[in-house]
Amino acid sequence: MDTLAFDIYGTLIDTDGVVSQLREWIGQQAETFSHLWRSKQLEYSFRRGLMQRYENFAVCTRQALEYCCDYHQVLFSPEQKDAILESYRKLPAYADVDRSLTALRAAGHSLYAFSNGSVEAVEEVLVANGLRDLFLDVVSCDPLKTFKPNPDVYHYFMRKANASDDAWLISSNPFDVIGAISAGMRAAWVRRSQQAIFDPWGIDPTITVSRLCDLNEKIASYQITGGNAANKQSHRPPEEAADVLR
Ligand code: 2OP
Repeated sequence: MDTLAFDIYGTLIDTDGVVSQLREWIGQQAETFSHLWRSKQLEYSFRRGLMQRYENFAVCTRQALEYCCDYHQVLFSPEQKDAILESYRKLPAYADVDRSLTALRAAGHSLYAFSNGSVEAVEEVLVANGLRDLFLDVVSCDPLKTFKPNPDVYHYFMRKANASDDAWLISSNPFDVIGAISAGMRAAWVRRSQQAIFDPWGIDPTITVSRLCDLNEKIASYQITGGNAANKQSHRPPEEAADVLR
């Protein structure tokens, strides 16, 4: 049975869960505002990681919100900003999460939450959605003071979970899938929409599912077939990755 590291935001938790609140305040701009907020949040995490100017993910989220207000020229009051950030801490899970994770646990897999978010933030959003008990533990990048896709955070996960390089990352975020594979893990891409594009870097997901509920079966059939040759090629162990850096 496998160790499964679930990405949180965008994979289990819907970062567009603030759209209905935003729609009340800014009407039709709500969806583009929400998408920009998410992409700026990630951009800030990437830049802070590279620059070694770490602030936790909640700071990236808050500063990205400020950016979006300026970009869209909307003036939220401090109370509105507090309210939307409070909603962000309790974002909703996608509808398929509970039953899919319950099935994976019943199949004997070890489930971990693995996120850029702090342990407290991830615990809060999982508890708000009644999902916390499905996970053995919450592993955050925060103690490393850097973010995904730094390979150190995937290696840190494997150490924390006492897992070998046959552990899986499960994520809807292509940068996360590529990061995990580059760091020596297996990775499943959850392609939640037909519009989602995987970065053409020549590093493919080990498996791809369009629905979380297909994961159990896909992982089982991967174990039986051992994966195809192409998958194995893209599965580079950490030692080899380290050699390239030398
Ligand atoms: C997470 O780490 C990448 O936001 C995503 O939860």
